[in-house]
Amino acid sequence: MDKFIVEHSRELSGKIYVSGAKNAILPVMAACLLAPGKSVLKNVPNLIDLKTMAHLLRVIGARVDYENGSMSIDSKDVCYPEAPYELVSKMRASIYVLGPLLARLGKARVSFPGGCAIGTRPVDLHLKAMEALGAEIEIEHGYINAKADQLTGGDIYFEKSSVGATINALMAAVLAKGKTRMFNAAMEPEVDSTIDLLLKMGAKIEGKGSTTLEIEGVEELFPVQMEMIPDRIEAGTFLVAAALSTKPVTVCNCNPEHLTALLEKLRETGCGLQINGGDITVNPPETIKATNILTLPHPGFPTDLQAQFTVLMCLADGISFVEDTVFPDRFMHVAELNRLQADIQMQRNVARINGVKKLSGAEVMATDLRASAALVLAGLVAEGTTTVSRIYHIDRGYDRIEEKLNSIGAKIRREQG
Ligand code: EPZ
Repeated sequence: MDKFIVEHSRELSGKIYVSGAKNAILPVMAACLLAPGKSVLKNVPNLIDLKTMAHLLRVIGARVDYENGSMSIDSKDVCYPEAPYELVSKMRASIYVLGPLLARLGKARVSFPGGCAIGTRPVDLHLKAMEALGAEIEIEHGYINAKADQLTGGDIYFEKSSVGATINALMAAVLAKGKTRMFNAAMEPEVDSTIDLLLKMGAKIEGKGSTTLEIEGVEELFPVQMEMIPDRIEAGTFLVAAALSTKPVTVCNCNPEHLTALLEKLRETGCGLQINGGDITVNPPETIKATNILTLPHPGFPTDLQAQFTVLMCLADGISFVEDTVFPDRFMHVAELNRLQADIQMQRNVARINGVKKLSGAEVMATDLRASAALVLAGLVAEGTTTVSRIYHIDRGYDRIEEKLNSIGAKIRREQG
């Protein structure tokens, strides 16, 4: 298993570039099943999770090709409505094929996703939404068996804001007969970009950017070409790296409108920010001020940046509190950060961080994608050498993170093993 050897290298400076958004591309890849023919997605990074989704689409019968950041998906011949355990257990986002398969083939058999390092993560909202559209669902031998000769529009109320359930329901509703209304829909940029793709394909959807969506089902959808949005979580990870630096860093090719909550928090820590189109320059403060964060559905502070921001607070002047209301147990990184001599105490589901003057390099272990990114950031500011093992987690969602960070002065070496 590969590891990162991270040397203390806090003097980051220059420009760092953001790739296309993994969490926007995954649902859009699944949505390509809805429009028979060849769709093309641009600005697609080379990530393990996207390869896993490509593998799944091939199992279903699509042809997927990838070259130079461009992915083509030909879904003319999809015929096998199944997401097998071996793929779903690798990547929960495989559940995204449920809605498209039901809409296109009238049936789907998707392995029931298990828990993961960030919590139990149920899929009840996905299933309730499919039932509201007339699907019959049975759970048997670890699989979700769903069928519907013809999906029909209906009202869907999401008890909880869910990115995945909103997108899955959208993908089913666009080909359902009649009108669907969704209440308390998620408003993440990844939901909007899926809506943009579906609209381009010929779907009828109103309410984009709000929590109430109205969908009028259409008979068929058509393949399209689309440029993928920048990854706000990769951008946010680099912005936090910049805040930890001793020199200005510019994060290029991002969408500042997707990052409002983080930018506000960075200002509170004392960072100077200059926004120029899709480029954000961070002038890091001499002393990082402590501030509290509470993660919430968009436009609140994203759970996917909680671990990285926690690292910033480890070095702040004062005490801060971090609470994750989206995934309350997402704190596996805390014990690892304490190995680097951070001073964090968990008080039930709230991290109380007592800022320290310095961290000290040690061996740590990555537990999930964003926790791994946080440990790499911590390694940059820790004195001496930090070894981050199990970095396959990071390769799932960051395209060559070490090369990108090294291009602005980080000292990170990948050791194969
Ligand atoms: C998406 O997961 C992202 N994954 C996650 O990013 C992200 O952390 C999460 O949204 C929240 O922003 C992808 O886009 C592939 P949810 P998703 O449904 O859709 C509960 C990363 O690091 N819930 O919005 O699975 C759930 O337990 C990953 O890139 C139910 O109770 O998240 C959570 O508390 C990790 N029942 C809340 O809703 C359900 O049926 C929000 O989860 C579904 C969700």
